[in-house]
Amino acid sequence: MTTSTNKAALQFNHVSYSDGPTPIINDVTGFFPQGKITTLVGPSGAGKTTLFRLCNGLISQDTGEIIIDGKDINQYEPTELRRTVGLALQSATMLSGSVYQNLSMPLTLKGEKLPEEQAINLLMDVGLGAEYLQRNVKDLSGGQRQKVSIARTLVNKPKILLLDEITSSLDRVSQQDVEELIKKINTKFEVTIIWITHNLQQAISIGNYTWVMMSGKLMESGESTLLSNPQNDSVKRFVQGEIE
Ligand SMILES: Nc1ncnc2c1ncn2[C@@H]1O[C@H](COP(=O)(O)OP(=O)(O)OP(=O)(O)O)[C@@H](O)[C@H]1O
Ligand SMILES: [Mg+2]
Repeated sequence: MTTSTNKAALQFNHVSYSDGPTPIINDVTGFFPQGKITTLVGPSGAGKTTLFRLCNGLISQDTGEIIIDGKDINQYEPTELRRTVGLALQSATMLSGSVYQNLSMPLTLKGEKLPEEQAINLLMDVGLGAEYLQRNVKDLSGGQRQKVSIARTLVNKPKILLLDEITSSLDRVSQQDVEELIKKINTKFEVTIIWITHNLQQAISIGNYTWVMMSGKLMESGESTLLSNPQNDSVKRFVQGEIE
């Protein structure tokens, strides 16, 4: 049974951000429901990645409020914000070295050590066995790299996980593998997921909720089925593939 009450894990109130004269994020008001998977779609240049950079404090909004887990983003210490909001990217950036060194990175940065047992548990969580711990990351496939990258975001037990096109460079099988993994992480750790994707089929099948952004604006948001029946004319043209 689905509940009709959606508590916000992340709330935007009239958020704008410009770099120079052009607004990149333009008066965005909306929310991302707690414990759900929200897919974020929109044409190239719509401001999706910029929205993520606002959410994890890489940049700050010019106006408006961003509320994370009930608290204004400005009231977070930078380290607390990084712990609360995890980010994984398409490129799955890795340090050269072992899987273990890469998993440890979020703690090494703080001068702490990741217990080996915890590293193995993280590998299990993403469907990789303990034998991967000492593998060199340069020997991993794209799908395996992406799994290590996801495991690394879990080290800090984030409440919100931002995924920026993490499957777009993977083959179909690895893509489905990562999709299943994210659904499992969403359920097991009750983490709120926001997933940027260019794949509208994926946005419908994976998402509970969907945001459609165009030219820095939030055009539509709601249950992911909205993509099958958009109200807005521009969104209609976007889902029909007329705008990329
Ligand atoms: N640091 C920056 N300085 C100036 N303009 C920027 C900067 N970052 C992004 N932009 C511009 O802001 C707009 C939104 O970019 P953004 O990367 O957020 O889009 P996106 O929706 O993630 O696109 P894509 O689907 O191609 O990844 C683009 O027009 C981009 O050129
Ligand atoms: Mg982007």
